[in-house]
Amino acid sequence: MAKHKIAVVGGDGIGPEVIAEGLKVIAAAGVETELTHYDLGGARYLNDGTVLPDEVLAEWRDHDAIYLGAVGAPGVPPGVIERGLLLKMRFELDLYINRRPFLLKGDNGHDFVVIRENTEGTYAGEGGFLRKNTPFEIATQGSVNTRMGAERAIRYAFELAQTRNNHVTLCHKTNVLTFSGDLWERTFNDVAKEFPTVETAYNHVDAACIYFVQDPQRYDVIVTDNLFGDILTDLGGAVSGGIGLASSANMDPTRNAPSMFEPVHGSAPDIAGQNKANPIAAILSGAMMLEFLGETDAAATITAACNANLDATGSTTDIGDMLAEAVRQ
Ligand code: IPM
Ligand code: MN
Repeated sequence: MAKHKIAVVGGDGIGPEVIAEGLKVIAAAGVETELTHYDLGGARYLNDGTVLPDEVLAEWRDHDAIYLGAVGAPGVPPGVIERGLLLKMRFELDLYINRRPFLLKGDNGHDFVVIRENTEGTYAGEGGFLRKNTPFEIATQGSVNTRMGAERAIRYAFELAQTRNNHVTLCHKTNVLTFSGDLWERTFNDVAKEFPTVETAYNHVDAACIYFVQDPQRYDVIVTDNLFGDILTDLGGAVSGGIGLASSANMDPTRNAPSMFEPVHGSAPDIAGQNKANPIAAILSGAMMLEFLGETDAAATITAACNANLDATGSTTDIGDMLAEAVRQ
């Protein structure tokens, strides 16, 4: 297969450390890549004010995928990097699917996947202030839900379920969010008609939090909105062996733009530079990237090696070396 052109953003804190291990394992699996490294994130912002220039976005469109570690650094005001870099990337490239798989430890290997809508909801940035910094201040933060946005996420979830165990659960809060919840529920029921072999379920998101802890075996594919998906996937990480193992793909399944692959965890400045971070989430995200790029054998080999070593202890580089050895061609 031709070399894959990958834009690499190590980012801040432990980001570059875990991405280095991911790239090591990808190379060991025999996949050829052509890497372009980008110095972006909180540290770069503090250094010269750069967040995500449009020229960089344009260059990325010429790559096959983006591999990202983590961004965020102490001293950067909230929202600057999150909105200016991560969300800008998701929105501008229209990476409308955020796919986050979870493997339950020691539970006969039960696994489930959350499909998080990735471009709308409360993340869209609708809202503002009135009378700011007065005792009468008002802040609104609307939730933007389009039929198109909900439908493409839901359809993706059903298509994915067909390749798995034919079961999709919608998580929302239709009992209170009677506008957005209604749109999501009607869309879900309409799309479900196209997939008569796929079973469906519905959970309110608060109840889903209980099931995530007490009965996650009930899930195969979950589809949910942006904010519920953000929260549920941290919980998913916590119940399936820790956030150090949770991987994700921010995808444009139409392949109009390059998809972006990143661990769910953040930059963890408290342990940065100590060779302590677990690189498995980043390595599994790298495997999802390879799968998307058509390197299905290498992706399966890396995923299997990670899943066989979820309890691995040791330094970042030790775990990376061990997994590189395990997949070496
Ligand atoms: C995630 C993160 C981001 C999100 C933050 C860093 C903007 O928590 O990818 O889950 O909220 O989507
Ligand atoms: Mn999150």
